[in-house]
Amino acid sequence: MADSAGEEPTAPVHSAPSISDANALWQRWQGFLQQSSTYRELLAEQQAGWQCKDLDVVYSAIVKENAGGPTSFAKADPGLLCRRYRLHASKILARAHPALFARSCSTLGAKPNQFLDLGSAPGGVSHFLHSDLNWTGTAVTLSPEHGGIPMHPVHARTESLRICYADLRNETEVAASLEQHVKANERPFRFVNCGAVQDHGQREQEKPTDGASTVVVIGDLLVAQLRVAFRYVQDGGDVMFVFGSTKSGAFFLLLSLLQPVVDQITLLETLFVVKAPVYVLLSGVHPSRVPDALWDRLTGPSTYWLLDEPESWDQAVASFALYGPQLEHIWHLATGVLKDRRIRASQQRDTGVKRGRDIV
Ligand SMILES: C[S@@+](CC[C@H](N)C(=O)[O-])C[C@H]1O[C@@H](n2cnc3c(N)ncnc32)[C@H](O)[C@@H]1O
Repeated sequence: MADSAGEEPTAPVHSAPSISDANALWQRWQGFLQQSSTYRELLAEQQAGWQCKDLDVVYSAIVKENAGGPTSFAKADPGLLCRRYRLHASKILARAHPALFARSCSTLGAKPNQFLDLGSAPGGVSHFLHSDLNWTGTAVTLSPEHGGIPMHPVHARTESLRICYADLRNETEVAASLEQHVKANERPFRFVNCGAVQDHGQREQEKPTDGASTVVVIGDLLVAQLRVAFRYVQDGGDVMFVFGSTKSGAFFLLLSLLQPVVDQITLLETLFVVKAPVYVLLSGVHPSRVPDALWDRLTGPSTYWLLDEPESWDQAVASFALYGPQLEHIWHLATGVLKDRRIRASQQRDTGVKRGRDIV
């Protein structure tokens, strides 16, 4: 944690097992997951996609369109991304918690709910909350000078959103931004969205150059966002976060650690359903129930997170029994999208019409 001298927060320290041990532990969990027929269907469809020459043609056309560069938020069209995130947020949140997020529940005339949107740019989720639901909010996101994407200009025209540029991993900087508007010990936010994720370009920049490799299971960006969320969310409020790898046992361990703190956990697909991350919506969050031990765990040894301890293996298996069916639903959606792409790529070969972007 940062001290009053304003030092950078310390990154989680993991006693990293060797890469080969980590691989063996990963394979063990993969073996467990393969008991799920839905998971096996997803793996089979992925395999069919990798072997599909017609899809190779489609992807290489897209790589050419992008001039071969790595995908990066900084290069994306913020207007288009903002619209897509806004629509997606309205779809999944209204489905998961209609009493709070359905448009018919917008707070016109009443005192508006407040939200905190972390990693907010380009601003789709914020746009949904302040424009469609009439909430007011605070958005915290990485400045474009530090590699973040800009907030869409539409947000400059509203008084319902306050925008702060800060690096969420710098706890001192974030607290200073928020404490200008939030009184000490106040918990104003009905909903906190933890949406900051590093894009490919950021990860490449931050890769150690000395060849050192560490096994990071729960990233420091997620831990930093959960700390902010649990500090500022109202008792009984909602928190949503993105988790990168649902094929890991660590995902289910995290859910089991959060279970006592919340009334309900809902897993939701991201905008890119075929990619690994999912959204986790925590409804009815009780911050007073968050034990200090949670933070010790989150920043603790990776042997626990890699299921190298009997206790953590059993905990992950029990958590899969509870939350696995929700994830299987998302895997099923992903299998459908992948299959559809493969079929359309083959149809493109047969018709000779080239439409790369329409297919993926
Ligand atoms: C997937 S985008 C979020 C999309 C957003 N929720 C929306 O609805 O438009 C991820 C965001 O996290 C931001 N980000 C990445 N690292 C960050 C950091 N350390 N601190 C603050 N924001 C960060 C990126 O700049 C980007 O704006």
